[in-house]
Amino acid sequence: MPILQIVKYGNPILTKKAEEIINIDKYIEDLAQNMVQTMYAAPGIGLAAPQVNVSKRLITVDLSVGEDSQNLIILINPELTSQEGEVIYEEGCLSVPDISEKVIRPSRVTVTGIDLKGNEKIFEAEGLLARAFCHEIDHINGKLFIDHLSLLKKSLIKKKLKRAVQTGKI
Ligand code: NI
Repeated sequence: MPILQIVKYGNPILTKKAEEIINIDKYIEDLAQNMVQTMYAAPGIGLAAPQVNVSKRLITVDLSVGEDSQNLIILINPELTSQEGEVIYEEGCLSVPDISEKVIRPSRVTVTGIDLKGNEKIFEAEGLLARAFCHEIDHINGKLFIDHLSLLKKSLIKKKLKRAVQTGKI
């Protein structure tokens, strides 16, 4: 399985709403498996298809980063159907290198979606898993974690990222 290139901040695909997946065909199956390998290689606990330059509603999450295969979640057309509470915690993103900031997320979420076999899935998640779901679902809606920060903080980070892009660091 090839490891895919991760798209970085500045690429317009990261700010675009991704398309719903209608057919789970070989392309989607391969994409999902390649995303898992890419996520493990990074290493990261989550990845969304736009991060590998594919504007489709597909996410992968594995809090164990491949240590325990039971933890792997591959979800098609995921949706946040309920949320409650608030938690502030440090967050980063493979597409936004070298930046981590505290982001407010719900403490509990319900996420629905479809697995690779076409079965409907419902996840009740809290803590880091809830955060990972929110982060990845944001990605398929064209949103990055830095979009949750104050305007001042966001503009400082954007300046820093712009410089990094210009100097070829990311
Ligand atoms: Ni991310």
